[in-house]
Amino acid sequence: MKTIYLDNSATTKVDPEVMDVMDYYHGQTYGNASSIHHEGKNAKKALGEARSIIANSLGANDDEIIFTSGGTEANNLAIKGMMYANEDKGRHLITTKIEHDCVLNSGKALEAEGFDVTYLDVDSEGFVSPEALEKNLREDTVLVSIIHANNEIGTIQDIQRLSNICKQHDVLFHTDACQSYTKTPITTEMADLITINAHKLHGPKGVGALYVKQGTAIKPLLDGGGHERKRRSGTENVPGIVGFAKAVELGMDEAHVNKMQALRDYLIDEILKIPHTRLNGPRGEQRLCNNANISFRFIEGESIIMNLDTQGICTSTGSACSSQTLEPSHVLMAIEDDPERAHGSVRFTISRYTTKEELDRTLTALKATVDKLRRISPLTEG
Ligand SMILES: Cc1ncc(COP(=O)(O)O)c(C=O)c1O
Repeated sequence: MKTIYLDNSATTKVDPEVMDVMDYYHGQTYGNASSIHHEGKNAKKALGEARSIIANSLGANDDEIIFTSGGTEANNLAIKGMMYANEDKGRHLITTKIEHDCVLNSGKALEAEGFDVTYLDVDSEGFVSPEALEKNLREDTVLVSIIHANNEIGTIQDIQRLSNICKQHDVLFHTDACQSYTKTPITTEMADLITINAHKLHGPKGVGALYVKQGTAIKPLLDGGGHERKRRSGTENVPGIVGFAKAVELGMDEAHVNKMQALRDYLIDEILKIPHTRLNGPRGEQRLCNNANISFRFIEGESIIMNLDTQGICTSTGSACSSQTLEPSHVLMAIEDDPERAHGSVRFTISRYTTKEELDRTLTALKATVDKLRRISPLTEG
């Protein structure tokens, strides 16, 4: 049975061209970029070229890019690094209720240290209100961190508008663009700090970067040899970073986005033909090009996913089974306080490799699965 992989917001298949360049920097040229011999110089050169590719993709300068071990570390660095560096100005952070756990938990960690954090609500499609943001800004607000495209429901915020409000009030603005990078235009005009990573765009896991606007002081989180201009210590992951840059070069193509958008809309329209289904998140341009998140009434998303998995189809759910209790997704609960909708949700995320044939096979399996589960569900009407 050939796998149909529709969980590309969790992670993606590494492009073979990315694997080739990574192989080279693992096995052929493997020096430490800090070494002064020729192998070290080769590694340093490769690192510099990769940095330029990633900086150019955002319209940034090379020295505004800090490589990290991924999106989690970049978000931690952005949030804690900024709050610690600006303690003399204030101790207030604003973020939202629909952030990735690494942002929410950075907020909680800061609260435990005595910082004050505001978690903004979102509307029924997952949008942050610019008016609410402005109303919550205070004299002691140091940083606002708002996710660009949501990883669960695909909502793309009007980041420029939110960022402009912060600029007017002289407050730093960070956005987590892990899901949107290469899928929607991102420039340094949009934020003072931008988080990106490689494994959402057919690059390797364990590599990411933080863009930090020139002149913005940041407190490093790691003590060490002072790599990355003293902002992130640790021997640079040259194969990973070179692979990241290759993935960006291959990914920056409008044709991929257009293809995914068309497939996404086809999938959404076809799933919504199943009775008692509801789309989570907006439609159209303000939705991530690869995301379809649908709630199925009367049944659990987890049961659908497990049934699809037995048929070779990988999807994911907004509910995570943790310590015997089913926790509904914080994102779905933020758009509507309805645990049934949250528990009944399934996320399908496509990639540039997804085909219409795969979606048709998924739709057939999904319809049969939903029918079967609803027949045995105690919640089904009648
Ligand atoms: C929106 C968002 N932010 C941050 C992360 C964390 O990135 P990483 O897996 O590279 O640590 C992810 C990935 O799960 C994500 O989707």
